[in-house]
Amino acid sequence: MGRGNLRRSRRLGTVDEARRRACRRVPRIVFDYIDGGAGAESTMRANIAALEAVGFEPRMGVTRGIPGPDVSTTVLGRRLSMPVVVGPVGFTRVMEPGGDVAGARAAGAAGTGFVMSSMSAHTPSEVSAGFAGAAGDTDRLWFQLYPLGGRRGAEKMIDRAAAAGFSSLVITVDTQIHGNRERDVRNRVSMPLRLDARTVARLAPGVVARPRWLLDAARDRFRFEIKAAASTGSIEQPVSTEEALVEWALSPLRWDDFPWIRERWPGPLVVKGVLSGDDARRAVDAGASAVVVSNHGGRQLDGMAATMPALVEVVDAVGDRTEVLVDGGIRRGADAVKAVALGARAVLIGRAWAYGLAAAGEPGVTQVLSVLRADVDRTLRLLGCPSVEALDRSYVRIPGDW
Ligand SMILES: Cc1cc2nc3c(=O)[nH]c(=O)nc-3n(C[C@H](O)[C@H](O)[C@H](O)COP(=O)(O)O)c2cc1C
Repeated sequence: MGRGNLRRSRRLGTVDEARRRACRRVPRIVFDYIDGGAGAESTMRANIAALEAVGFEPRMGVTRGIPGPDVSTTVLGRRLSMPVVVGPVGFTRVMEPGGDVAGARAAGAAGTGFVMSSMSAHTPSEVSAGFAGAAGDTDRLWFQLYPLGGRRGAEKMIDRAAAAGFSSLVITVDTQIHGNRERDVRNRVSMPLRLDARTVARLAPGVVARPRWLLDAARDRFRFEIKAAASTGSIEQPVSTEEALVEWALSPLRWDDFPWIRERWPGPLVVKGVLSGDDARRAVDAGASAVVVSNHGGRQLDGMAATMPALVEVVDAVGDRTEVLVDGGIRRGADAVKAVALGARAVLIGRAWAYGLAAAGEPGVTQVLSVLRADVDRTLRLLGCPSVEALDRSYVRIPGDW
């Protein structure tokens, strides 16, 4: 991590600033991969519009001074320093060589959780070592599963994640195939996404205009290959990313896969990607200890519901049986406060930390997390709420038609 990165990240005052800086630092294809959504991007925009439609109902004359409100919470029995978990984002090594290791270190040091994507160019043990180095243990480290390499590949990934000390397994159920991300299509990034060195080279003019990124990637020897997938064969004979992706497309995860996953994975299961009370009930019946209300940040089926109204439905359906988390459009601490008031235990962030990483590496992620934490604190004080755990629906005004 160069000093330049540190200097740049010091000035990140908002997630939007991280986004703008990321746009300037990485090639257009990388920025579009982070920033874009599926189809007309209407679901992506709807997530943010729904957050904006939730109003606050503050209480005056009750806020105490120093120390401030307790912004910590618990998820799956582990204490988190704030209700914001760093969610799974694929291909982070293309954004900055530190990739998932940098994200895990920043999350670990911030006292919150990190979810490693299956689509990572780092190995589970590299990410685990990074997280443990910063946090002291891996209690808040989760692994997100895609069945790369079919059931056989998924079993190997589950075993490797367990061996590396990951505490929970997140199963993403909304990626039967990849959504139609039109920016990626326009940039000729092939579907399913493969941001390999050849693709980047083909777009040489845009890449050359980003010399700092190019230098970092060259020093890292353009190691963009998905490691989790590449190693699903025997250690000596890895299967290629391409083969692993084909097997995934042939057999996306279904509810009837949960019994064998349940048997194989020793810890809690989290199901990510439900948007209705019915699917949330199915997830709980299948053994989920938590569900994440998510439309993949609007990157899968454009036209799907925004996540905040779906959160209300899911909490009402299964909130008494399971923990409910949510993601989509979280750009400020106040957004996380709204989600918790609506019934979520915590939010996941996707683009917010990817922008930080692409803008300035690990310090950029650290800065984004600290901006979000400060805004959760400030929002609680202005709301007149003593703690994240005291938040409930009386602190927000829910649009009448939800
Ligand atoms: C660049 C990028 C890559 C992603 N990769 C994955 C992934 O590998 N697995 C997964 O479950 N979700 C993935 N997601 C979805 C996020 O985990 C999360 O659901 C979404 O980003 C939330 O919306 P937000 O970006 O508006 O915060 C990705 C999101 C982005 C932006």
